[in-house]
Amino acid sequence: MLLILLLLTIECSGKKQPLRVIGGENTEDYPYVVRLEVQHLANFTNNNTILAKHDHVCSSVALSSTWALTAAHCLNDLNFFFIGYPYTLEKLIVRHGHVEHSPWIEGSFSDVVSMITHPLFSYTFDDYNKNPIIKNDIGLMKTTPMDLENYMKLSAVDFFSLYGHEAIFAGYGLIMQKSSSGRTETHDTLVLKKPLQILKVLISRCLNSDLLEPALCLASKCGQVATTCPGDTGGPLIHPSGIVGILGISDLSMYCYDKTVKRPGDVTGIVAPIGPYIEWIYDHMST
Ligand SMILES: *[C@@H]1O[C@H](CO)[C@@H](O)[C@H](O)[C@H]1NC(C)=O
Ligand SMILES: *[C@@H]1O[C@H](CO)[C@@H](O)[C@H](O)[C@H]1NC(C)=O
Repeated sequence: MLLILLLLTIECSGKKQPLRVIGGENTEDYPYVVRLEVQHLANFTNNNTILAKHDHVCSSVALSSTWALTAAHCLNDLNFFFIGYPYTLEKLIVRHGHVEHSPWIEGSFSDVVSMITHPLFSYTFDDYNKNPIIKNDIGLMKTTPMDLENYMKLSAVDFFSLYGHEAIFAGYGLIMQKSSSGRTETHDTLVLKKPLQILKVLISRCLNSDLLEPALCLASKCGQVATTCPGDTGGPLIHPSGIVGILGISDLSMYCYDKTVKRPGDVTGIVAPIGPYIEWIYDHMST
């Protein structure tokens, strides 16, 4: 699936300097940014061993000890992730502990108890069956208690007033690293055992509003080659006033993994703004 991201020009002075990998930086500072995973367990009674395997699904953010916000498309069509035999115990979990933690480490995982996608969420494709057309890409997960130091509040700022503001995007999606043999590996942060990645971005108006509605676009800051990637979707856009968006569409260009796709502009991702959904979110959280 190729995403054609429209050109968005920002005046930048100074030379373009590729940052480490896809431009993010490691951080441990946002414990409330969590990860949706599928946990697979195989319980071999013949030799008393339990085999565990985890698959990254999406990024997410904890709003309280039992509620996490993500993109609705992350909660849609999850059957794909369930692989079956020999994994007889498979479930959706939220990881809020270290990437190396295994299922037996208390306090690193919570179970997803229920999932709610926005009633007006839809995911279709354009006439060429190439580009998605996503509407109202907001979803909530109720979880067993997540014991975190703090949770993130939503921003009530009207999203139109955010154009030109700086924000931080946080996600657990694809990154690159050089292996010891010098090869470049591209995989999600779970497989590469990397912490959360954050990216400084500028919030801008979307010139092509067809891909996601409603939407805010993210541009990389001047002089940076940096972008969101698959697996980052569902992650929060963090503004000084609180969470202002959830990533719906990531970049899918040479910067992530597909070298055949040239990145046409400086759009590093498209987020669903939070403003239009605040009441819907708080209504569910208070029931
Ligand atoms: C694995 O199976 C044994 C025997 O049936 C059971 O006692 C144990 O609780 C199971 N472990 C898990 C993690 O389900
Ligand atoms: C335990 O048994 C299963 C099934 O026979 C096998 O696949 C697995 O490798 C065994 N594990 C160990 C540690 O021997």
